[in-house]
Amino acid sequence: MKKIILVAGARPNFMKIAPVVRAIKNYNKSSVTKRINYQLVHTGQHYDVEMSESFFKDLDLPAPDIHLNVGSGTHAEQTGKIMIEFEKVCLREKPDLVVVVGDVNSTVACALTAAKLSIPVAHIEAGLRSFDRTMPEEINRVLTDQISDYLFTTCDDANENLMHEGIPKNKIFFVGNVMIDTLVAHVKLAKKSRILEKLRLRENGRLKKYAVLTLHRPSNVDNQLVLGGILRALNKVSERIPIIFPAHPRTVSRIKNFKLNDMLFFLDNPPLDDFPGKIMLTPPLGYLDFLCLMSNATLVLTDSGGIQEESTILGVPCLTLRNNTERPITVREGTNIVVGNTPNKIVKTAFHILKNGIRQKKIPKYWDGKAAERIVKILTKVS
Ligand code: UD1
Repeated sequence: MKKIILVAGARPNFMKIAPVVRAIKNYNKSSVTKRINYQLVHTGQHYDVEMSESFFKDLDLPAPDIHLNVGSGTHAEQTGKIMIEFEKVCLREKPDLVVVVGDVNSTVACALTAAKLSIPVAHIEAGLRSFDRTMPEEINRVLTDQISDYLFTTCDDANENLMHEGIPKNKIFFVGNVMIDTLVAHVKLAKKSRILEKLRLRENGRLKKYAVLTLHRPSNVDNQLVLGGILRALNKVSERIPIIFPAHPRTVSRIKNFKLNDMLFFLDNPPLDDFPGKIMLTPPLGYLDFLCLMSNATLVLTDSGGIQEESTILGVPCLTLRNNTERPITVREGTNIVVGNTPNKIVKTAFHILKNGIRQKKIPKYWDGKAAERIVKILTKVS
């Protein structure tokens, strides 16, 4: 059987590549005559233990076969470094197919490298569009899809977006959502997490009401006024419900640079009494701890893409602190509301949801835990 390279580089990639690895292993176990020969490449875009290694452990992902160790840098530096290192890997390993996931710099860098070497590319989570070219991820998505040979999609919107951009129908495969495969596979295990006790959200078996916040988009955290406005709004919300904020390293460094520390308190300095009207900041959490935290939350506030999808499946109301989403299906069918980053609107909508809740419409088609199985089945036929 031919050789496949699977690429992962940044935190949201690990949840997407894990079910593909598992589906390949299952295929290899069940097939007597055919095997898929694969290698996992980690670009090193994310490198902190909390952003990378802990996910390999939680998701039972095998250690990468090849590590490019590129680390941080400007977009051009990071993309360029990944391309230079990944080209060496492709020339040496001569894969018949490169599989990339999501929309991070590692995705576009490896897709472009492979395409230029005439190696076919498969893109998992193709076709999502925010139609906002100021987002680095949108550029990554559009470019990756244009040079991919097999485009695996999560929803009908994505199929339509791709066809509008001139991608032939026979390259598009509607398979469902691999991120949800990972959620479905781990939701039981996540119940064993002790994070709620650790954060004193469950005491003597009693669960408190709380909200979970994540924030890392450049449009929200790179501007002092915008970030300050969001934090002020959320401090107001936290007078009614404690807000737990597992913060991305870039957000923590912006909070410090902008001297906004006094709007939050840090987990390493927790108050002895109950939560005051302030946001409670923790380091980034591992997959199982975060899933446990999100599953039991009353409300999720986020600018992440994946969390909009996960909260839809968990049935937890989600306020997306952005002006757009590349995942409109989570608004139409799930629990998502795109609220923007204007302080008044955030407070008003959060209070409304806390009072009235939100009704889930339905679970999107093929978000059923079997997307990776479908992908592997297709790959065995086409590659
Ligand atoms: C990247 C993705 C984004 C994804 C996010 C999830 C791109 C363009 N963006 O954004 O789509 O939602 O990951 O986390 O690829 N840093 C650390 N430790 C790490 C990694 C990063 O401290 O392990 C800090 C560094 O200061 C770095 C900054 O975070 O410069 C930004 O990291 P980078 O990977 O460039 O982009 P993200 O903002 O994480």
